Amino acid sequence: MFLPQLLEKTKNGERLVALTCYDASMARLMATCGIDILLVGDSLGMTVQGHNSTLPVNLTDMVYHTRAVANGAAGRAFILADLNFGSYQASPAQAFASAAQLMAAGANMVKLEGGALFAETVQFLTQRGIPVCAHLGLLPQSVNSTGYRMQAKAETAAQQLQDDALTLQEAGASLLVLEAIPAELADRVTRALTIPTIGIGAGAQCGGQVLVINDLLGLTPTPPRFSKDFLQGQGSLEAAIRAYAEAVRGGQFPGPEHSR
Ligand code: KIV
Repeated sequence: MFLPQLLEKTKNGERLVALTCYDASMARLMATCGIDILLVGDSLGMTVQGHNSTLPVNLTDMVYHTRAVANGAAGRAFILADLNFGSYQASPAQAFASAAQLMAAGANMVKLEGGALFAETVQFLTQRGIPVCAHLGLLPQSVNSTGYRMQAKAETAAQQLQDDALTLQEAGASLLVLEAIPAELADRVTRALTIPTIGIGAGAQCGGQVLVINDLLGLTPTPPRFSKDFLQGQGSLEAAIRAYAEAVRGGQFPGPEHSR
């Protein structure tokens, strides 16, 4: 699926449904269940590789999993692939070289973490045919500086995040992931932008939602508060994934208990 088809869905006010996906079997199942965006997240460093952060994930890993997911989805879902830590921060040219490998592996868009500092990189990629999703709020690749905790609670940080979002949109980003920020701020940023926001731990007012598939399936020993085990009460993986998609599109997930 290409970007114009994805954005078309949001025109009628439909919420975008996204899940992390790391292999071909799950990609096939998710596409069958009508998941719009399969995020080949660098969270695979934790869910697949067993590390305690995303930092050890390298570009070879990302290319391998992106190819597997693209093969499984076979054009029936939009493939968003993370640029891993160290693959884009040095320069726009470094980001292009890394992103090109992900696109060649089957990605439809790449995602990078960070604010206005990366506006030049976003512009460099988008002007060269690579759609970009920005990512603000809790940035797992910056865990050594911030820890895993809610971000932008104070007004100065909230305003900074909103300014960053507008700058990244202006630079050409087509989607924005908002992770672990207050629901009111996510709502405010979503209304200030024309591009869709995809929330995770950011309340119900975003243009779409994403969850880590392992959290959705109850596989995470200490899941984040904002996630939900959708397998509980369902008889199969397919039923759990369909229940998630339905809850996002129907506005039942996330509920107030999943955000602050
Ligand atoms: O890598 C990942 O799973 C992500 C989500 C948390 C948005 O970036």
